[in-house]
Amino acid sequence: MANFLAGIFILLCLVNRYLSAEIPSVTTALGTITGATKRVVFQKKPYDVDRYLGIPYAKPPTGELRFKRPEPYGPFPGAYSATNFGLSCPQHLFLPVMAEEQTSEDCLFLNIYVPRQEPDQPSGHAIMFFIHGGGFTMGSGKIYDGGVLSSVGNVIVVTINYRLGLLGFLDIDNVKSSGNFGLFDQRLALQWVNENIGAFGGDKDRVTIFGESAGSISVSLQMMFPQNEGLFRSGISESGALTLPGLFLENNIEAAKYFAENMSCSVEDMDEVFSCLQSATPESIIKVVADAVASGGMAASVKVGSSPTIDGEFIKTNPADLYRKAVTGESEEINFFRTRKLMNGVNGKEGAMFLMMLGSDNLDELEITREQMNTQQIPGATAVVYGQRTVPEVVKQLLIAEYTDWENPDDPKKLREQVVRLFGDIYFNVPAIEMSRIHSNASNVDSYLYNFVPVLDKRLLPTPNWVNMSNHGDELGPVFGYNFDFEALLNISDYTPPEWELEMSERMMAYWTNFAKTGDPNKPVSDAVSSVVWPKYDITSQSYIKFDRKDSFGQYLFARETDFWKNTLSAVFDATEVPTTITSLYGSKDEQTCEKDGTCG
Ligand SMILES: *[C@@H]1O[C@H](CO)[C@@H](O)[C@H](O)[C@H]1NC(C)=O
Ligand SMILES: *[C@@H]1O[C@H](CO)[C@@H](O)[C@H](O)[C@H]1NC(C)=O
Ligand SMILES: *[C@@H]1O[C@H](CO)[C@@H](O)[C@H](O)[C@H]1NC(C)=O
Ligand SMILES: *[C@@H]1O[C@H](CO)[C@@H](O)[C@H](O)[C@H]1NC(C)=O
Repeated sequence: MANFLAGIFILLCLVNRYLSAEIPSVTTALGTITGATKRVVFQKKPYDVDRYLGIPYAKPPTGELRFKRPEPYGPFPGAYSATNFGLSCPQHLFLPVMAEEQTSEDCLFLNIYVPRQEPDQPSGHAIMFFIHGGGFTMGSGKIYDGGVLSSVGNVIVVTINYRLGLLGFLDIDNVKSSGNFGLFDQRLALQWVNENIGAFGGDKDRVTIFGESAGSISVSLQMMFPQNEGLFRSGISESGALTLPGLFLENNIEAAKYFAENMSCSVEDMDEVFSCLQSATPESIIKVVADAVASGGMAASVKVGSSPTIDGEFIKTNPADLYRKAVTGESEEINFFRTRKLMNGVNGKEGAMFLMMLGSDNLDELEITREQMNTQQIPGATAVVYGQRTVPEVVKQLLIAEYTDWENPDDPKKLREQVVRLFGDIYFNVPAIEMSRIHSNASNVDSYLYNFVPVLDKRLLPTPNWVNMSNHGDELGPVFGYNFDFEALLNISDYTPPEWELEMSERMMAYWTNFAKTGDPNKPVSDAVSSVVWPKYDITSQSYIKFDRKDSFGQYLFARETDFWKNTLSAVFDATEVPTTITSLYGSKDEQTCEKDGTCG
């Protein structure tokens, strides 16, 4: 008997091993793709996930195809072995632990993670399509291992590479290089998924795009591009909205000239600049970025930064104006946006990310004086929001009043908290709330908002201890079930997060994948999410869920900050900036135009 049982046990092991060793393979219209099965573990439970890695979705954007919209890769000449990640796109990696990474201009690949469970619907698995962040200049799909999210949530996860920096976004205002290639790459990958995911057991009518930071801005841009009809039905924006001020330029001719000049090319006319950049090696392009970062820190790296531009096609008008536009007029973009389901959120202290740029070696001891606040931080913030416009003194005074703790107005430790608030508000919090308001201000929309606040055991970005809520990017660990290479990212081997974080991760993965499956984060009800029902967001109730050691829900997230920036400051700004017209005291019919300092002419 014992032998018999032992025999069955061995047999089961063999069957098991046989199953794991079986090579997963799918036949698509483009050819046969073979992958590999990997075992992942979450909360001590093992799962097998089929991975198809490094699938080319576009022709290599090299040679004549550099600075052009991507072209579909087309069919595979033979069976395609998709067992290794493709190389990342050229980028300057400033994280030392990742400096060895090899990159290539031939980088337009996607990765697919397919769970072994039966799908929740006969039509197939819901799909979660991830767009990585990194300021449109860094990052790659492979850092975000979709294995745990896919297995625990029972969805297909897709991650992608898209072109970055100058190679992804060169816009010199003419047909030679019209810009936004990186966004068109994302879109082509979505089209690939639409056409081929059925072969992997996916339901192409249930695609959700999600992304963080620049990936989140990309999500919101894709959601406002009406030609994307049919490619996805919902989007999850994690910390980044297209309403971010100051991001979108009309072109990046200035950056292009900087690159050309630095590669000893003539910048007399744009044709020459273009030929120079067209024939440069990717290494020399990245070297200009690396040199700029090394020589002048952030200020210089802004010069070499290239991000999405108002190209007149993908982006027709400045997205920073959308909030006003949504109130006053019809817009095809906004109408399309509202037909998609949106889950949107920000972390507790997004602004802590910018502390890295203050150039202090010891952020724990950082202090900000009143002088620094008034002469550097406040003007720095207004430069982002108002660009070249002259900022009236009264606006500066209002900002100082708003970003002061009036119980300890000049305490340098309170002022550093205010700097985190200020930059969190302008870059993330206010744009996010604007976006949720724009999206939800109509009937029959599905809109959800979250705020992720806990202090995690390990944060991805350098964060001082006095920052007592989540920093930018902190929600990524929980969303991906901590399936990160912590060794590569943080130089920690065998990391296991604390139990409360794993439980929170389980809840978040349930909400995220529920939303992908049904469009409602609360359905299908699972044990993990049954205790807190996530209410819909609308402009009246402004309800949101707050993720923490215990989840709860609240109302009016950053409502004060949003109204302060969008209504109060704008009104004051407009009133002081527009020259006042007054009737002449001398009874003349001529009207006088007066400047804001009171002189009339
Ligand atoms: C190239 O850039 C560096 C800083 O990144 C600058 O110091 C140098 O002058 C530039 N070279 C040319 C030829 O513009
Ligand atoms: C919502 O839309 C109405 C008109 O459709 C507009 O008057 C109102 O200002 C909008 N509210 C917000 C917060 O955008
Ligand atoms: C974080 O610190 C601020 C200011 O020091 C304090 O007002 C707030 O209650 C703290 N929040 C948490 C969640 O500890
Ligand atoms: C990683 O950690 C080990 C030991 O903890 C240390 O010796 C090594 O220098 C670290 N590597 C990097 C790149 O920081």
